Amino acid sequence: MPSRNGTPKACVIGFPVRHSRSPLIHKFWLDHYGIRGSYERAEIPPDDFPRFIDCFTALGYVGANVTLPHKQAAFERCARRTATAARLKAVNTLWFESAGLCGDNTDAAGFLAALDQDAPGWDAFPAHAVVLGAGGAARAIAYALQLRCAARITLINRTQARAEVIAADLGSPVEAAGISALPRLLSEASLLVNTTSLGMLGQPPLLLDLSPLPEESAICDIVYIPLETGLVKSAKARGLKAVTGISMLLHQAVPGFERWFGVRPSVTKELRRIIEADIPAAV
Ligand code: ATR
Repeated sequence: MPSRNGTPKACVIGFPVRHSRSPLIHKFWLDHYGIRGSYERAEIPPDDFPRFIDCFTALGYVGANVTLPHKQAAFERCARRTATAARLKAVNTLWFESAGLCGDNTDAAGFLAALDQDAPGWDAFPAHAVVLGAGGAARAIAYALQLRCAARITLINRTQARAEVIAADLGSPVEAAGISALPRLLSEASLLVNTTSLGMLGQPPLLLDLSPLPEESAICDIVYIPLETGLVKSAKARGLKAVTGISMLLHQAVPGFERWFGVRPSVTKELRRIIEADIPAAV
């Protein structure tokens, strides 16, 4: 949908937002598909978010990605939400329709697309998934696995009560367990996902013994700075399929670009190379 001057303009709204790689991703696609459009960063403090959204179309924007700390505020301001956004109570992609502001949460679809591309066959059998963490990303990923008919989805978090809230909200087969159950759960798992900040640049490492994981299992770490986390390196050393956080970052961007600019973009090796070149390889 073109903006008033005929050139669609989108942005990523966050606070802070300097670190966001979204402009690099969307600019690559705009160039690649020869689309006249633009994608900017909008650093908006929480108090200014409602006013910014009210002026959104007047500023010439056709849509936006939303990142921390605005995902819940964006959800609340939408007139229409996709079923996924309604389930997750958080929005990371905005656009306008005649009904007004619309919102989607593309983290769940981005996670599944990343696994499908980088670990094909991961869901050949009903998955037994162990998800570390209980923030917004863990909720989106548990929901995605539920959609893909995983047989069992166990959330393990430092603060177990947060995992229990998500399990109660999403329902079966999502469950919460204590950290002491981890070795047994890993020995039965086909998929391990890290959604905590452990292993990220500047954070403590994720210290985990992967030896109980079955040989045919896969891992996914949504941390993408550094490119290869300790978890990814250990999994590869064991010969397991490993999906990096960059993959989910790239795939979650696809639906927004399609809505704003009218072309469904591909996550290609060239795009991946460009984004990876912008990220520290090691901590
Ligand atoms: P998001 O919404 O981005 O997914 P979040 O809500 O900030 O993230 O959650 C971060 C996750 O990392 C949480 O599960 C957090 O555990 P708590 O719920 O107990 O806070 C987890 N996490 C962060 N630092 C951690 C640490 N040092 N040890 C264990 N878990 C940690």
